[in-house]
Amino acid sequence: MKTTVIFKYATGILLISALTAGLTAANMGVSLHPAEHIKPEKKKEFTPGELWYDTDGNLINAHGNGILTVGKTYYWFGEKRGSHESGGVNVYSSKDLYNWKFEGLALAQSKDPASDITEGCVMERPKVIYNKKTKKYVMWVHLELKGKGYAAARAMVAVSDKVTGPYQYISSFRPNGNMSRDMNLFVDDDGSAYHIYSSDENMDLRIAKLSDDYLTSTTEDKIIFRRQREAPALMRYHDKYYLITSGCTGWAPNKASVHVADNLFGPWTLVGDPMVGPGADKTFGGQSTYILPLAGKKDAFIFIADKWNPKDLKDSRYLWLPIQFKDDKLTIEWMDKWNLDFFKK
Ligand code: DGJ
Repeated sequence: MKTTVIFKYATGILLISALTAGLTAANMGVSLHPAEHIKPEKKKEFTPGELWYDTDGNLINAHGNGILTVGKTYYWFGEKRGSHESGGVNVYSSKDLYNWKFEGLALAQSKDPASDITEGCVMERPKVIYNKKTKKYVMWVHLELKGKGYAAARAMVAVSDKVTGPYQYISSFRPNGNMSRDMNLFVDDDGSAYHIYSSDENMDLRIAKLSDDYLTSTTEDKIIFRRQREAPALMRYHDKYYLITSGCTGWAPNKASVHVADNLFGPWTLVGDPMVGPGADKTFGGQSTYILPLAGKKDAFIFIADKWNPKDLKDSRYLWLPIQFKDDKLTIEWMDKWNLDFFKK
């Protein structure tokens, strides 16, 4: 009893003196809930891992994101999260990539208990692409059915005529019968689209070409490697494809790796960990989700990762860092802050 009292007293003193010394609660591993609403301020730079508020002053709630560029506007789609629960897919828009306007819930879960996307299902890593032939925006999501943990391992497809939605659910399935968890979409220069997904209990990473309307997978579907990787993020640079993935350690960060290929279906060559700087061996506390090619700027790419907070998923943070090519080697260096002038160098 006496020990407990002394311990609490000591922790209190430690906390007060640490705060006085200018240490943040995050540095100390103490979780304080951030303000969910602030007076909005115009942002002029990226501050990876810091709180990121939208133009209304609310915390951006869009995790495992994917970004679609339409003309000069970027649309950020991401998981709407509660402390643990999944609440559909949120969408934000921006012209400068720093300041994001909340556009609404792009995909809602269904009130119908018989639907695959009934409330209580889990929607992760949403990605949206535009189909020029059908003139539809097509969203793919990693879907887990209500009450089944991560056992369903499905892909889900929804469409909309408007980029911000509302997206209408089309179907959920295992591509060619394969389990499908962490995923991404990639549209190549010829307009062909691909689904990259973790399969066979995350042992395999597979790639499947999509049908012309992007609504389903074709049977052109192959294992690209069996190395227990997830969180795939893909880009094309100088006629080579680069694929960043993470290991499989739940919400905990781990070492990233890059694979390179001349062809999307392989062979893919493992290059190694692209991260450089403090915390590089654990992806700076994050996990890959997307690589954004800058609109109208050749050879400029932003690496996007989630810094998950499994105790309060909506308070997971975003890491945006520039991709650099040093001697043709893809490198991602830690920066406390940076802005798009970086790409003018
Ligand atoms: C790691 C995945 O990358 C996340 O999207 C999420 O599914 C977590 N696992 C769940 O533990």
